[in-house]
Amino acid sequence: MPASPLRLGVNVDHVATLRNARGGTMPDPVRAARAAVAAGADGITAHLREDRRHIRDDDVERLMREIDRPLNFEMAATDEMLGIALRLRPHAACLVPEKREERTTEGGLDIVGGREHLAPVIRQLNEAGVRVSLFVEPEVHVMEAARALGAPVVELHTGTYCEAVVAGDEGRVRAELARLARAAEHGSALGLEIHAGHGLTVDSVGPVAALPQVRELNIGHALMAEAIFDGLPAAIRAMRAAMDAGRAQAGVAA
Ligand code: PXP
Repeated sequence: MPASPLRLGVNVDHVATLRNARGGTMPDPVRAARAAVAAGADGITAHLREDRRHIRDDDVERLMREIDRPLNFEMAATDEMLGIALRLRPHAACLVPEKREERTTEGGLDIVGGREHLAPVIRQLNEAGVRVSLFVEPEVHVMEAARALGAPVVELHTGTYCEAVVAGDEGRVRAELARLARAAEHGSALGLEIHAGHGLTVDSVGPVAALPQVRELNIGHALMAEAIFDGLPAAIRAMRAAMDAGRAQAGVAA
């Protein structure tokens, strides 16, 4: 089978959360990354938070060393994280907003208000050959701002769409999908590579996978939740099948 042009990035943060709950060494997020790759993941995502609540510095170093797939390093645009990214030079750095009190990344990065702060961070990562991705709300004006900042990639925040799916609110689902589609089309027309993620499950991934401009989905929580019952390889295969089915239904090459 030809390689799918829609990549699946597997986020292993939750494996580290479980490990840290006991303070020991298991489960090992690097082992999870290895299993994810064996099951068909195209890349691995890990978020080194300021408080190190899940992924730790040595996890990132081991992911770089031991996993032969691109690492998407999620980071806040702080001096500390920039220093780590410039030292390790992962394949990609996804800039995300970060608040200490949040349970997960709650909204997209404010790249309009934060332009002056973000511009030098993006420039330095670009110069170091790290592919910069901005985790943003799916809005047309935000695509323009990402382009102006010189980032090659945007990751569209799918959280609001996924909440609407869980709520069973069909009107909101349609509206959120239309918002994602408009942003994906506009961003792609501007030359941005389009990724998407946050909150996606096998039940919600299809219509996002069907957006022809989307090249990569980054998914973590739902995969790890299913892995408890079915194992990680089966959870990844089921997600991949749902992605491919969504794309096939829309007549987009898987
Ligand atoms: N993309 C980004 C930028 C994220 O911050 C997260 C959550 O860590 C994800 C994707 C994955 O979201 P989820 O764990 O809900 O699949």
